Amino acid sequence: MKTVIEPFRIKTVEPINFTSRQARIEKIEQAGYNPFLLKAEDVIIDLLTDSGTSAMSTEAWSAMMRGDESYAGARSWYRFESTVKRIFGFKHVIPTHQGRAAERILFSVTLKPGMIVPNNTHFDTTRANIEYLGAKAVDAVCKEGLDPSDESDFKGNMDVEALKQLISTHGTEIIPMVMLTVTNNSGGGQPVSMANIREVSQIARENNIPFYLDACRFAENAYFIKKREPGFADKKVEDIAREMFSYADGCTMSAKKDAFANIGGFLCTNDDALAIQERNLLILTEGYSTYGGLAGRDLEAVAIGLDEVLDENYLLYRIRSTAYVGRKLTDIGVPMVRPPGGHAIYLNAREFVPHLPPLEYPGWALSVALYIEGGIRTVEIGTVMFGYDPETNTERPAKWDLVRLAIPRRVYTQSHMDYVIDIIKDVWEHRTSIRGMKIIEAPRFLRHFTAKFEPLSEK
Ligand code: F0G
Repeated sequence: MKTVIEPFRIKTVEPINFTSRQARIEKIEQAGYNPFLLKAEDVIIDLLTDSGTSAMSTEAWSAMMRGDESYAGARSWYRFESTVKRIFGFKHVIPTHQGRAAERILFSVTLKPGMIVPNNTHFDTTRANIEYLGAKAVDAVCKEGLDPSDESDFKGNMDVEALKQLISTHGTEIIPMVMLTVTNNSGGGQPVSMANIREVSQIARENNIPFYLDACRFAENAYFIKKREPGFADKKVEDIAREMFSYADGCTMSAKKDAFANIGGFLCTNDDALAIQERNLLILTEGYSTYGGLAGRDLEAVAIGLDEVLDENYLLYRIRSTAYVGRKLTDIGVPMVRPPGGHAIYLNAREFVPHLPPLEYPGWALSVALYIEGGIRTVEIGTVMFGYDPETNTERPAKWDLVRLAIPRRVYTQSHMDYVIDIIKDVWEHRTSIRGMKIIEAPRFLRHFTAKFEPLSEK
């Protein structure tokens, strides 16, 4: 097998600011031991997120110059709308400034306090938007998805028996929609199979419950289906994506992921009455229905990105470069969610630092160690992010403690990733010296973004 190369040349570069270990010890302390509160210029390799951090293409930058900034009915809007309709296939497209704005609008018009929204795994903003409205976000990922070492192909699948159980226990009245997140970001970036999408859709339809996809990483999910699910090897990824959406009644989308855009998103629905309510709320809170909080040039960039992300040379490079990091780390013995997901590697912090109990935030402590050791910024997906229950004001271990290394699209080369692997190896070799953390202050919702921490003293 020949080396899979980056399917692009680099035309513009952005210098990296190198810091010393001592400087990083001071920076992270000043940031309250919260990587979100670091200055980006103090980070060497930024794997905090793959969202809005992608490199755009010459085509996308050129299209931005063509952006039509008319308030209503701009050319850029029609280009955006027709691209979304061609790929996603829904009747109504509602532009938003990012994914969570689409979530807020969708949930605001469909949820009432006490309602329940099942999903394979809710992303943090999805969960928070649901809880903010007094409803309940229920995760129902398949059991393989809960075992970091299980090598199954589609660990993002929903547990359909759990879904049926939920419907029969609570009735359809209080379940305004069923969602599936593709790929399942908070569940290790694992894909969902077409068979599972079809089955979940069928269950939802039989019960007259609308079915939505959280489509942020739809192209990566479609590519996994092509590579792993029987019957799809010869299909175009674009057709696979279209089939995925054909089973849904709508979707939320952050164009900051699988559209390479630095900003943007949309909400889709096939429901005419709902679309009217959503557009009205959009105009009230985001912007007019043909721009939704975006500039014309942003709409152009998203339209170009949605087609580029379906390029199979790109997707081959994308999935293989994540798998490369996964393979190297597995060779060293580093515990992680297997197999690697599409956009990220998820270290299994509970096994990486088993001397730290969940309420000492092993994932958080590991992410701080990665920053100090090599200036790598990552994000905890664990007890800090999901362990606090605002309803009862109590804390419990999340179902797992992971550290996500999200890989921005088309940004870092193989040697950047080799550096990341070297640093993780160093931290792995000194893992017993990593200390737990305690929270000094935290807000009620989405506490990981702004909480402040202190390392626990030596026992
Ligand atoms: N849904 C999923 C699955 C996501 O991963 C995100 C964002 C959103 C919704 C919200 O989209 O940021 O445009 O408002 N995920 C980013 C991440 C922030 O780092 O995983 P947004």
